[in-house]
Amino acid sequence: MTDHDDGRTEETIFTWGAPPLKFGPGASDEVGFEMTQLGAKRVLVLTDPGLAAGEVPHRILESLQRYGISAEIFDGVHVEPTDDSMDKAIGYATEQGPWDGFVAVGGGSVIDTAKAVNLLTTYPGQLMDYINKPVGKAQPPPGPLKPLIAIPTTAGTGAESTAMCIMDVLSLKVKTGISHWRLRPTLAIVDPLLTMTLPAEVTASTGMDIVCHALESYTARWYQTYDRKLPEERVTYCGSNPVSDLWSERAMSLLASSFRRAVHHGTEDVEARSNMMMAATFAGMGFGNAGVHIPHANAYPIAGMVKDYHPAGYPQDEPMVPHGQSVSLTAPEAFRFSFESAPERHLRAAALMAPDHDKHNNPAEQLPSVLVDLMRDIGIPNGIGGVGFSESDVPDLVPGTMKQQRLLATCPREVTEEDIERILMNSIENW
Ligand SMILES: NC(=O)c1ccc[n+]([C@@H]2O[C@H](COP(=O)([O-])OP(=O)(O)OC[C@H]3O[C@@H](n4cnc5c(N)ncnc54)[C@H](O)[C@@H]3O)[C@@H](O)[C@H]2O)c1
Ligand SMILES: [Zn+2]
Repeated sequence: MTDHDDGRTEETIFTWGAPPLKFGPGASDEVGFEMTQLGAKRVLVLTDPGLAAGEVPHRILESLQRYGISAEIFDGVHVEPTDDSMDKAIGYATEQGPWDGFVAVGGGSVIDTAKAVNLLTTYPGQLMDYINKPVGKAQPPPGPLKPLIAIPTTAGTGAESTAMCIMDVLSLKVKTGISHWRLRPTLAIVDPLLTMTLPAEVTASTGMDIVCHALESYTARWYQTYDRKLPEERVTYCGSNPVSDLWSERAMSLLASSFRRAVHHGTEDVEARSNMMMAATFAGMGFGNAGVHIPHANAYPIAGMVKDYHPAGYPQDEPMVPHGQSVSLTAPEAFRFSFESAPERHLRAAALMAPDHDKHNNPAEQLPSVLVDLMRDIGIPNGIGGVGFSESDVPDLVPGTMKQQRLLATCPREVTEEDIERILMNSIENW
């Protein structure tokens, strides 16, 4: 008997997952104790060179050592990882291994790299075995992974609670990833004090990632509108659902009270930093299950085909469009496009994000105008033109977006190539 024998074609089931969470100022100093509870004796701490120059990874190391754990730091994570940089991290961890636990201390770049290192050191093989189709083979991990404690230092990706890791596949100039529930960290330790040192530009960019996670998952296609899946066909993104909605809505309210404060007064406003950290974690718990759609799908070619853009606050050695910027640049136009599929959700999101915002005559403009106001206030570049693209680049960007079918399937409206072309064209400038 199959699930379809009752004649039902509509989905009736949604799934929701998140790791246990330890949250609060000082929480990261408890990592040693937490790792002993997971039984690990030899642990690799992963971080990036910028963070390793500060004190945080070393404090994490000390906490582990205080509890009798043998631990070492690998500080070679690439900011916005590539298949190549992940292979290097996996190579290092394999040579120096075996490890029976991992700690990721950093932003999404570090946490994602640690997920890949955990997978490929536990089950040696190739990244391509696990990378999403059509780029890779999308094999499921053969079994459980080692304990991974994720300690985010940016308020953005929510990668500490999600089941995916994202990378740039250099040879194909495409960003994609691995997505499977086994990649989800064992424990998230979220300590807002770690974000006090974030530069204003990184606070703004990573905060826009939270905004897009919350908005895209809240406006994602409702889970019941998909075809019924067999248990083995279930994917991490199941569409908006009653549980993800709760997290996304709460994230929006936190953003409303604290995002501008965190950008403009981030060095002293601990409350704003705490609220942003909570917003990031909450949005991760929302989008990590519901999914994201057009703004994130567009972000992949925008970041992957970067020209000569070097954003302030980020490493300057290579051109890059940081993830948070790349997802926000087409968001106003994407939400204009998706408005008609769920007007009340778009309006509610706008009200949560900016309760005092003037009412626009045209309801479809309400959410885009809230976003544009915010982006102008916090110094996000003005559209894809602001990071170096012009109208003549749009035809080259479109196929990169269309390859992200996993994300476009989450869009509440069917999206054609022409739609994406128009959205990109109308996003050359956002104001
Ligand atoms: N796995 C997921 O669910 C998920 C979701 C969204 C994005 N991502 C991925 O995450 C990556 C982006 O991560 P991110 O936005 O968190 O930034 P990041 O990890 O790339 O870090 C950005 C910069 O900030 C610096 N930095 C980090 N913490 C700092 C601190 N406390 N003080 C000072 N500087 C600090 C880093 O050294 C780096 O230069 C992208 O590769 C993106 O694709 C993953
Ligand atoms: Zn994102």
